[in-house]
This record gives sequence, structure tokens and C-alpha cells, in this order.
Amino acid sequence: MALLDRAIVRLLPAVPKPLVQRLSSRYIAGPSLDDAVRVVRKLNAKGKCATVDVLGEEISSADEARAIAGQYHDVLARIDSEQLDANVSVKLSGLGLELAPDLCRENLESVLADAAARGNFVRIDMEDSSTTDRTLQLVRELRAADHSNLGVVLQAYLRRTFDDLRGLDNVRLCKGIYVEPAAIAYREFDEVRASYVRSLEQLVAQGTYVGIATHDEHLIGEALRVVAEAGLAPDRYEFQMLLGVRPDRADELVAAGHRLRVYVPYGTQWYEYSVRRLQENPKIAGYVAADLARRVLHRSGV
Ligand code: FDA
Repeated sequence: MALLDRAIVRLLPAVPKPLVQRLSSRYIAGPSLDDAVRVVRKLNAKGKCATVDVLGEEISSADEARAIAGQYHDVLARIDSEQLDANVSVKLSGLGLELAPDLCRENLESVLADAAARGNFVRIDMEDSSTTDRTLQLVRELRAADHSNLGVVLQAYLRRTFDDLRGLDNVRLCKGIYVEPAAIAYREFDEVRASYVRSLEQLVAQGTYVGIATHDEHLIGEALRVVAEAGLAPDRYEFQMLLGVRPDRADELVAAGHRLRVYVPYGTQWYEYSVRRLQENPKIAGYVAADLARRVLHRSGV
């Protein structure tokens, strides 16, 4: 993204919420579980599987964290009863990580147990770097405690990722979306790409089941090379994309015989997620600039 565009994108928090909601509607299934189920059904009909995310990382009480866990139980029950090809993605902050580690663990364990009873799987999203150690430690403890139906996310922009990936058996690899200091994160576009490829090669070499989460054509090409060179069977990896981003490319990957999972967020707490997605949309600077110009002109009576 050009420098001016990046400066404009930083103004997103100043954009009125209704406009953010309108611009980001393609990235979110809707406010209710019924919306998510409808979207997953359509994806399944096109040969794509899904991972369902209950939006709600901004919780502030134990009751709210338990309510989010409760919504995941509802999601798992619907996936089961409707025989959808989908698993779930959770954010530890939504389950109470910042309130109390025990609360978070308790909530996560209940979701994991429910998923296991239904033969399903739980992916733990990775949030900003203040959570990385706690997230990886919890994942390692739970795996050691015989919870085998969970996997974590690693972010290629973190310098530590190449070390973190060792010993993990199920990883979603993404670039990373949070703003991190240069001391711990690669900041240059090409450095992040190089770290992604290096990490992917290592994950495949060590036999990790890998979710290749990217819409970057260069990385998709590199991933196709890596899986072909390793002779990986189609059930040993999957591509992953976000709802509303590059669906045509996703169709092509499915047609070529690759497993493809779409991240499907739903819920009423849509704001934080929407802003992150809009910041990555190459066209967003134009929309924001046009909106700001319209409002300035309106205020000056033009
Ligand atoms: P990049 O941002 O360079 O995008 C490549 C191209 O894709 C763009 O040029 C554009 O054409 C298109 N594109 C990308 N985003 C778009 C958008 N919003 N609107 C329109 N077009 C867009 N991050 C994290 O820190 N923790 C996590 O747990 C996850 N989880 C996760 C799951 C899944 C399934 C995906 C696909 C991604 C994540 N991410 C994430 C987000 C990830 O870290 C990263 O920010 C985005 O995937 C964007 O990076 P790309 O690799 O797609 O490249």
C-alpha cells in the first residue's frame, strides 16, 4: 500500500460506525448463528469447508467470557446437527485471558471437550504479541493433558515464529495482523513473505498439519511448490482464506483438488474485526478519503 494510502487508512477509527459496518459487511456472516450456518452451508455446497468464529474479543467480565464459551457450544451443536463441514476458531481474549487465566482455561477446556465429543476441532487464533507466550504455553499444556483436537496459529511477521513452530503438530500459518515493534517483528513486506516461506517449509518438513492462511498470490504459489515438492497428500494441509476475500481464487484451489477452509465470523461485536479487515483492503483508502471529503464539504456547506 502506498504511503499516502497507509496514512489515510490510519484514519479508519474516525470513520462513522455505520459506514464501517456497510463497508465490512462482506467479511462477516451476520449477527446471528443462523447467519453463520447459512453462509457455511453455501460454502460447503461449493466444496469449501469453514471455521466459525464468534466475534467478541472485547469482553470485560467473567460472565461475558462464559457467554462467549456458551455460544461456541451452540455453534458446535449446530455444526453437528446440520452435519456441516466446519470447525471453530476461538480467541483466548474472548474466553477471558485478560481477566483470569483459570477462567480462560476452564472455558477453553469446556469447548474442547464438547468439540472432542462431537469429533470436532478447535483452532486458537493468535492475537497481539503480549499473548503469544501465554497462548503457546496453554496449548502445550492442553496437548500434554491429552487434548488432541486443538491447533494454534503462528504469525510469520514475528521473529520468534521459526523457533516456536518446533514440536507443534497442527498450525495455521498467517502473516499476522497486529501492529508490533520492529524489535520483535519483521516490518518489510518481503521480509514477512520470506519468513512465511521459511516457516512453511519447516512445518512441512517436520510433518505438521498446516493451514496455509493467505490471499497473497506469491505465497499461494510458494505453498503450491512446497506441498508438491514434499509430495504431501491433500489431507495433510489446507489452504485458508477469510470470508469475503478472494473467493474466486478459493474456487480455483478447490477445483485443483486442494482442501480450502473459509474463516466465517459472526456476531454482534463486529467493530474491531471489521477495522482490521478494512485496513487490509487495498481499495479502502479511496473509500475513506471519499467519505472524509464528503463530510468536510458537508460541514463547510458545500
Ligand atoms: P496481503 O495482506 O498482502 O493480501 C494479499 C492480497 O489479498 C491483497 O493484495 C488483496 O488483493 C487481498 N486482500 C487481503 N486482505 C483483503 C481484504 N481485507 N479485503 C480485500 N482484499 C484483501 N492474523 C493474526 O494475527 N492472527 C490470526 O489468528 C489470524 N487468523 C487468520 C485466519 C485466516 C483463515 C486468514 C486468511 C488470515 C488470518 N489472519 C490472522 C490475518 C493474517 O495475518 C493477514 O493479516 C491477512 O491474511 C492478510 O495477509 P495476506 O497473507 O492475505 O496478504
